[in-house]
Amino acid sequence: MNQATIKEASNYIENKYTIKPTIGLILGSGLGVLADQIENPVIIEYKDVPHFPESTVAGHKGQLVIGSLEGKQVIAMQGRFHYYEGYSMEQVTFPVRVMKQLGIESLIVTNAAGGINTNFSPGDLMIITDHLNNMGTNPLIGKNDDQLGDRFPDMSRCYDQEYIEHAEQCAMELNINIQKGIYVGNTGPAYETPAEIRMLRTLGGDAVGMSTVPEVIVANHAKIRVLGISCISNMAAGILDQPLTHAEVMDTTNKVRENFLQFIKKVIDTLPQ
Ligand code: HPA
Repeated sequence: MNQATIKEASNYIENKYTIKPTIGLILGSGLGVLADQIENPVIIEYKDVPHFPESTVAGHKGQLVIGSLEGKQVIAMQGRFHYYEGYSMEQVTFPVRVMKQLGIESLIVTNAAGGINTNFSPGDLMIITDHLNNMGTNPLIGKNDDQLGDRFPDMSRCYDQEYIEHAEQCAMELNINIQKGIYVGNTGPAYETPAEIRMLRTLGGDAVGMSTVPEVIVANHAKIRVLGISCISNMAAGILDQPLTHAEVMDTTNKVRENFLQFIKKVIDTLPQ
């Protein structure tokens, strides 16, 4: 993905609105409802944006929603691209490059994730403090474009510390019980085995999902400040004596919708920038 393709996509998007978004939002499985609350929205379907892939998962809409939320100018991805859909890492992270080109300085990434930490319960929200890239690849592999970022980007604070504290504070003020923890990014699409979950717990993981890590690596490369929020949609494999289903994931995210919306809106309203 070179700068020409990034610019073609961003030019196309920029010509559709007059505001300048400063916050990007990537909304995961069942969490796209946040974009429905954006005021005076300009909606652009992924399929219309040059070089954007199309999203294929149930529960993911596949469009950009640009407008104002809590008085901030935002650009939201209602649905994201997953590696397991067959897209390259470059394709998965292309929208982050485009949002950077559009001027965002902050990125809020959300996802549905399985709880590895046995202190968690389905429906909990978790602030991501760090991640384990367990995808076996990296979106920055290949020739580095120095204009986009460093060859060997530092990852020691890829989830912004001030944002972590800000999100914690917001949850406290709203009386929402919030967890903090480490997100493990797996490729999927198969859910993990119980043995894999025990391994990931030993490695220090608190929640597991099939997204987020590629986008966060690229955002960090692009020097965008990141806040990551997981919705614990289910306990990971082997913890409860029941099979995992995508229906359960969607069902739980629907149930925590109100808390999630209230929380993210407050985070956005007072986000340090
Ligand atoms: N594992 C991986 N990805 C997920 C899960 C899970 O248990 N729940 C939601 N996304």
